[in-house]
Order: sequence, then structure tokens, then C-alpha cells
Amino acid sequence: MTAAEPLPIDARKQAAAMAALELVEDGMQLGLGTGSTVEHLLAAIAARGLDVSGVPTSEATEAYCRELGIRLLHPSEVERLDLAIDGADELDRALTATKGGGGALLREKVVAAMAERFVVIATTDKLIDRLGDGFPLPIEVVPFAEAPVTRRLRDRGYEVRLRTAGEGPAVVTDNGNHLLDARMVGGIEDPAVEELWIAALPGVVECGLFVDLVDQALLADEQGRVLSLEPEPS
Ligand code: A5P
Repeated sequence: MTAAEPLPIDARKQAAAMAALELVEDGMQLGLGTGSTVEHLLAAIAARGLDVSGVPTSEATEAYCRELGIRLLHPSEVERLDLAIDGADELDRALTATKGGGGALLREKVVAAMAERFVVIATTDKLIDRLGDGFPLPIEVVPFAEAPVTRRLRDRGYEVRLRTAGEGPAVVTDNGNHLLDARMVGGIEDPAVEELWIAALPGVVECGLFVDLVDQALLADEQGRVLSLEPEPS
């Protein structure tokens, strides 16, 4: 018997999104993540005609929701969100995630922290042992502080690059800031310590480590089967 052909990556993202769709109920106030996996979910919410509203985590998600006719909320209009669903760049067995590959980490973290339940949708290849090596950690900084923050990160052992659009200028986030992508060779030893250390650097707005926020991960494997994971103690 020959092994089945692996599904294309986009079909796997769709499988994870469809599993998350089963968690969405009429009347819910949602956190609406950013990225290609979440786009499948938003399209499915609209196609199913679910009566939901949500806080978008980026201008891109906001624009797509408008196109789809999904009702939008501002964080000031809602005390708690029933459920937030978002993608991730990497996550470990404790379900600590790295986010911000799409540059939306700040609003993504604000929205995740507002939710009763935060669910990550992704593919199984994003589950790794140590964060921060394969996929550099995105850090949002005010442009004025870019150089001193870069120096402090380098002193701590990170390889740091300012995110640019190709050979062009620095990428500007939805909040008017810049992004540093910080790689730690061998990975980050203790993400909880690192999140606090980075957050304490003057000029850092937010970092893409999501510690103790993810309640569940729905991860699609190469055959499109979806594994449901809950955090393992680290
Ligand atoms: C956006 O800033 C990111 O945090 C995304 O959630 C992450 O990059 C996942 O994106 P994909 O679903 O496109 O892989």
C-alpha cells in the first residue's frame, strides 16, 4: 500500500479552519485573527450565514470582513469576547505561540487577552520543540527606539533584523510602528521570562510570544486530519 499524497498546504489550513468553525455559534462575539488560515474561517462563517460579530485583529481582516458582510466591533464596545480564533507562526507543546509573521501581533494579543477562549488554527508542521529559532520572534517597536532596542536584543544573543518590504523601506504596522525579527539560535529557553524581559525594554510595544493565552490548538496534518491539543505543562 502506498502512502496517500500529502494535501497542499492551503487545503490543510482550510481543514483546521473548518474544525474551528464547529466552535462558532450564532450570537457569539468573536476575536477575528489575521492570516491565510483565518481567511478560510471568515469565508466559511459568511458562507454558513452565522449571525456573529467580531473584533478584527488587523486592517486586512477588517477589510475582508466588510467584504464578507461580517459585523465588526471595536474593543471599546465589548467587555469579553466569547471566543477568539487566530493562526500562529509556531507553537510548542505548552501551546505558547509565536505570532506576528503577518505583522498583526499587537492587536492579535489584545484580542486574544479579551477572549474567554483562544483557539489557534494551523498545520502540524508549526508544532515545534523550541520557539524563536526556526521562525524569528517578531517584536513591534516605536520607530524612535529601533536602534537601542536592537542593541539590547543583540547583547542578549538575538540575531535581529528590521522587517522591510523587500529591499524597500521598513514595514509599518497598522499602529504606525516598526517590526524587529529576532532569532535566538537554539531557541528561547523560557518564553515566559523572555516575554517579560522584552516587554520591559523602553520603546517595545509588544512581542509576538503568546504565553498562557492559547486554550486549544487545532492542527491539520498532511492528510487533513485535525488534531486538537490542549496546553501541556512546560
Ligand atoms: C499575523 O500577524 C500572524 O500572527 C498570523 O496569525 C500568522 O502569521 C499565521 O498566518 P497564516 O495563517 O497565514 O499561516
